[in-house]
Order: sequence, then structure tokens, then C-alpha cells
Amino acid sequence: MTMSKPCGVRIAGVGSAVPDKRLTNADLASMVDTSDEWIVQRTGIKERRIIDRDAGESQCWLATESLRRALDDASMDAKDLDLIIHASVSSEMTCPSNACRVADNLDAGTTGAFDLIAACCGYVYSMNVADSLIRSGRHQAIGVIGCDAMSTLIDYTDRGVSILFGDAAGAAVLTRDEDPNRGCVYQVMEGDGRGWPSLFIPRNERDVPSGVSAPPTQLGCLRMDGREVYKFAVNKFREVIEDALSATGLSVDDVAQFVCHQSNMRIIESAKAKIGLPDEKVYVNIDRYGNSSSGSVGLCVDQLWKAGKINSGDTIIMVAFGGGMTWSSSVWNV
Ligand code: ACO
Repeated sequence: MTMSKPCGVRIAGVGSAVPDKRLTNADLASMVDTSDEWIVQRTGIKERRIIDRDAGESQCWLATESLRRALDDASMDAKDLDLIIHASVSSEMTCPSNACRVADNLDAGTTGAFDLIAACCGYVYSMNVADSLIRSGRHQAIGVIGCDAMSTLIDYTDRGVSILFGDAAGAAVLTRDEDPNRGCVYQVMEGDGRGWPSLFIPRNERDVPSGVSAPPTQLGCLRMDGREVYKFAVNKFREVIEDALSATGLSVDDVAQFVCHQSNMRIIESAKAKIGLPDEKVYVNIDRYGNSSSGSVGLCVDQLWKAGKINSGDTIIMVAFGGGMTWSSSVWNV
């Protein structure tokens, strides 16, 4: 075991990537029985981005681009990383991990690399794991990626799921810092496996539990009981934020940004109203990108960072919930 003195963790750079191709509510209304008005009212989504597979775009390409940009932002080379953690539910292959393919794309040499699956919590779980590994002294510099190309998992005849999801990636480069108070000061990674039938991607018919109420879709596509997920999420989101505030003794005023998974505008608005969070501290981009699962929180962090709304010295709270069921928080002194 490597012994080292206590250290902190610095976010040395961030990046994100989204495809150019837009899928609007009008496009979906031409494919299934839905309307722009219904989608905006129930979800807040106006359009989402999806990869263009005919143009050679892929989930791995999105993941690679986001980390390339985070490395540029940090003025670092992929060979400076000693680990890459890639969170996704839509990796093209399970072997090798997408993290290894990203490492190859970026010419990262012999860096360690693995994938992590925690559905929409993927980025927040990965930031927590990376912070802990650096603090343990085992790693010095870690590239974290949250990336999903949900369009590859959607049955576009199922109006219950096709309206929600889009494709995006967010990445961060984390490095060891001498100040132990810098980095993640509180984290939660929890779940309740009993809830998995509310949201799953079956490969075979036998993967579908008897009595499951999610609508049938093609095998290999996401099945979701939207009402169940909504009921779970609307309470859990508020609980996770309140827990992070009370465990750290922080007040809403102390926090620069609450970076929330973009699941559904109504879920975000409900948590905001119940806790009393001001609009300017809860960034929303779901109207333009939909729910990009593991990509969502990292995309928000990058956009906030580039807009000057997250700065060195700020405290931010990242929160997410997702399939599994899983939920997670990560409180950072940036
Ligand atoms: N367009 C028009 N009508 C629709 C559509 C649609 N796209 N989808 C459903 N409806 C209809 C239903 O058939 C139903 O009709 P009925 O009353 O005649 O039966 C009616 O609208 C209401 O359906 P609900 O399913 O109750 O609609 P709800 O208000 O719950 O909205 C939604 C559905 C948007 C999916 C919502 O349940 C939701 O956002 N759930 C949370 C999903 C979520 O956050 N998932 C992400 C987890 S992330 C992860 O880990 C991958």
C-alpha cells in the first residue's frame, strides 16, 4: 500500500461533448402519438441531441471528445493520467471497457481504465470514486467521463421513453492537491436494488420479471415505468439535497451551484420549491438536451464552468438518481 500524507483533490479541467444533430418535439410527434405541448408540459424538454451513426458518430466518440476537451482545459496530456473512469449504460461493448478505448483514442499509454455503471448517477459516483482514490494516495491524476448515447437504447415507437432522452458526455480531470480541504468533502453513493424493474434494458425475454408494468419494447432497449420512477425521484431528489446540506452544515447561501441530474423539469422544480433553492443556483439545460443519463451532470458542470458560474473557491453540490435504483451526492470545494 502506498503511504502518503493527507491530500485534497483539484478539478484541473472540465469538458463536454454533444452531437450536432437535433431531435425536436416536432420530429417525435411525426414518429409517435405525442405533441410538443404534452412533452414541454410534462418534462420541460424542447429538443435533445442524438448521434448521427451514418456520419460515424458513436458513444465512444462522444466520450473521447469530452475527455480530450477536459485535458485541453487542464493543459494536460492523456499520458499524464494514471486512471480513466468512464460511466455509461450505453457502452458499445462490455469487453473491452469503453474507458480502454478512450485511452487508446487519446494515446494515453499504460493508464488504468475501467467502466462504471450507475445509470444517471454514473458521473457523480465516478467523481466520488476518483476523489477517494486520489486521497488514498494510489492515484495522482484521474480522467472522469460520464457519457451516454441513449438514442442507441431507445425504441422510438415507445412514446413513454423516446421523449425523455438525449446523447451527451461530460468529463473532468482530477489531480492531487496539497490542501486536504479541497475536493469532495461529503459524498453519498446509495441504492435500492429492489427497484430495478422500474428501469432496465433487457437483452433476453427471460430478463423481464413477471408482472413488470413497464411497456414492452424491443429487446436491448430501455424499458421504464415512468410513473414509478417519477414517484421515487421526486422525493429522493429533495432528500439527497437536504441530507448533503445537513451533513455538511452548509446553508443554501454557502453553495454556489446545486448541479442536478436533468431528469424531468417537474422533478427539479419540485425539489427547488420544497427546499427553497433560488433559480440562479439550479442550472437547467434539459430544455435543450433532454435527459442524457450518465452525461447529464458532467455536461452541466462544464457549461457552468465555462460560463464563470463555478469558480475556484466555490462550494458546489452535485446530485443524481437513476436506474438501479441508485442515488448519489457529491459536495465539492472547488
Ligand atoms: N405523449 C402523449 N401522451 C403520453 C405520452 C406522450 N409522450 N406518454 C404517455 N402519455 C399518456 C399516457 O398514455 C397516459 O394516458 P392515459 O391517462 O390515457 O392512460 C397519460 O399520458 C399520462 O401518462 P403518465 O405516464 O402518467 O405521464 P406522466 O405525467 O407520468 O409523464 C413521464 C410521463 C414524463 C415519463 C414521467 O413519468 C417522468 O418523467 N417520469 C420520470 C422518468 C425519469 O426521470 N426517468 C429517468 C431516470 S434516469 C435513468 O436512470 C436512465
